[in-house]
Amino acid sequence: MIDIIPEKLPRHVAVIMDGNGRWAKQRGLSRIKGHQKGADVVRAVVETSRELGIPWLTLYAFSEENWKRSAFEVKTLMQLLERFLKEEVDGLMKHKIRLNCIGRPSRLPNKTRKALESAIDLTKANNEMVLTLALSYGGRQEITDAVRSISKLISSGNISPEDISEDIVSRHLYTSGTPDPDLLIRTGGEYRVSNFLLWQIAYTEFYVTKVYWPDFDKKCYMEALQDFQRRERRFGAVFD
Ligand code: FPP
Repeated sequence: MIDIIPEKLPRHVAVIMDGNGRWAKQRGLSRIKGHQKGADVVRAVVETSRELGIPWLTLYAFSEENWKRSAFEVKTLMQLLERFLKEEVDGLMKHKIRLNCIGRPSRLPNKTRKALESAIDLTKANNEMVLTLALSYGGRQEITDAVRSISKLISSGNISPEDISEDIVSRHLYTSGTPDPDLLIRTGGEYRVSNFLLWQIAYTEFYVTKVYWPDFDKKCYMEALQDFQRRERRFGAVFD
């Protein structure tokens, strides 16, 4: 068993779940099979996070750019998401996990959006853990939306430009009220941020593994957490 020091666990873990397609290709399977196996891994990672007492988990489930994939892949991913939400809602209730969404969920197909809204509504009073799904999400789009809403406050005379602070910007992001991630995990081996949580990851520790998302099992997750526990976080300061 890999040693985990409970006091040094990240409070907020964010994940770029990459490699479903490559995992499937390696096995001569369709990309969809990779996403299906990926959904099982989502369940397992939520479960492990809950067992360890990690209070915030944010998963990059569908980016704004993902709309450019084939109509078939997008449709299947949406169906997979809808099924996941319907199947998991009892478990979320049982374990007091609140579901949250960041992005532009209004772009999702009706059935998926309704399943999402219903799960968010049902779980809204849960207070053990927050599971955030980034759906139709883009970091630049999030910052653009924040600039737009702050501009409206200025034009209506509620604040002046001099009042704009980092705190005000943070409070106008989709993640308002959520602490910044301590750890960002990317599976699939690419060293890219892919437009994920651009503002929020300013001081986040980055962990990249070559393991494709469908193979990211509990041991892999524990290794990422253990690696995080070895990091010395300075937030730009110098400690002698
Ligand atoms: C990246 O793999 C993964 C996605 C675009 C979607 C992530 C979706 C899931 C894990 C399954 C459903 C999610 C939930 C929350 C139930 P890729 O297709 O980009 O892989 P590749 O880079 O190897 O092609």
